[in-house]
Amino acid sequence: MVAMLYESQPLVARMTAQLRTEAALFRNHYQRMPRLAQVIVGQDAAAALYSRQLVRACRQVGLSCVTVTYPFETEETELRAEIARLGDDGTVDGVTLLLPLPAHIRQRIVMEALRPEKDVDGLGPRNAGNLLLGFPNFIPSTADAVRAVLDDAEIALAGRHAVVVGRSNMGGKPIALVLMQRDATVTVCHSHTHNLQEITRSADLLVVSVGRPALITADMVKPGAIVLDAGINALDGRVVGDVESVGVREVASFLTPVPGGLGPLTHLTLLRHTLLGPQ
Ligand SMILES: NC(=O)c1ccc[n+]([C@@H]2O[C@H](COP(=O)([O-])OP(=O)(O)OC[C@H]3O[C@@H](n4cnc5c(N)ncnc54)[C@H](OP(=O)(O)O)[C@@H]3O)[C@@H](O)[C@H]2O)c1
Repeated sequence: MVAMLYESQPLVARMTAQLRTEAALFRNHYQRMPRLAQVIVGQDAAAALYSRQLVRACRQVGLSCVTVTYPFETEETELRAEIARLGDDGTVDGVTLLLPLPAHIRQRIVMEALRPEKDVDGLGPRNAGNLLLGFPNFIPSTADAVRAVLDDAEIALAGRHAVVVGRSNMGGKPIALVLMQRDATVTVCHSHTHNLQEITRSADLLVVSVGRPALITADMVKPGAIVLDAGINALDGRVVGDVESVGVREVASFLTPVPGGLGPLTHLTLLRHTLLGPQ
């Protein structure tokens, strides 16, 4: 079997056109540009790549994107105050805090300071809690991208076994909750999982969000499985996912490539949330 490679470009083009229209309506209505603020602490290669992609996506849609950078040694209280300030700024419609943060800064403590309606990444306690309770409003962008691909490719999950590898607050956890809402039977794996291969091989749907190139190889995939690769890793000057795609393509029935799969969709989610405007 050779997997169908899901290229998100047609969906991205449709969503971008829709967002451009919404951005124009926003400008007419509020007499200003919609504005997203991205906050970066320190210098992380993955965060820098993500930041550049986000700026480009904003430009394409017609949003202004302001980048606020802080040095690595910034205190947690200082960052928390900045996040609160951006949340209170009436000209800022969405705030995204780029990860990873330095180890001395607790994401939860910082995100608590952000108004839920400006938390366009859905990482703050109110939005995360709503997702957990089954009333999602703003959900983290990778989980939203997974949702968009499942809808676009008309993949039904009721009763099927979905395995999520990774359990971060922005990746695996919200993805697992989205899949559960779609009536999949969900298993979540992480760095302490003993029999990873055995579990991934039992998956009808395998979603990988770890940050390790080629973690998932062909012998870890059930023949005919649907594989969604959320990894974005810089390797030898290239961007690669967490799935060893050449081998896995021979086994799976459906695979999201990196680049070109989930990644481009994640930025659009943020922009869509930002365009909802003052609430
Ligand atoms: N598609 C997108 O738009 C998008 C957006 C954001 C991030 N990403 C990418 O998604 C990936 C994950 O990002 P993240 O922020 O979630 O990373 P993270 O916070 O470092 O979390 C990684 C997760 O993977 C688990 N893990 C690590 N090694 C493992 C192993 N050998 N086997 C099984 N699980 C393992 C960790 O387990 P423990 O919990 O036990 O430590 C953790 O839950 C990265 O490549 C990142 O660039 C993609």
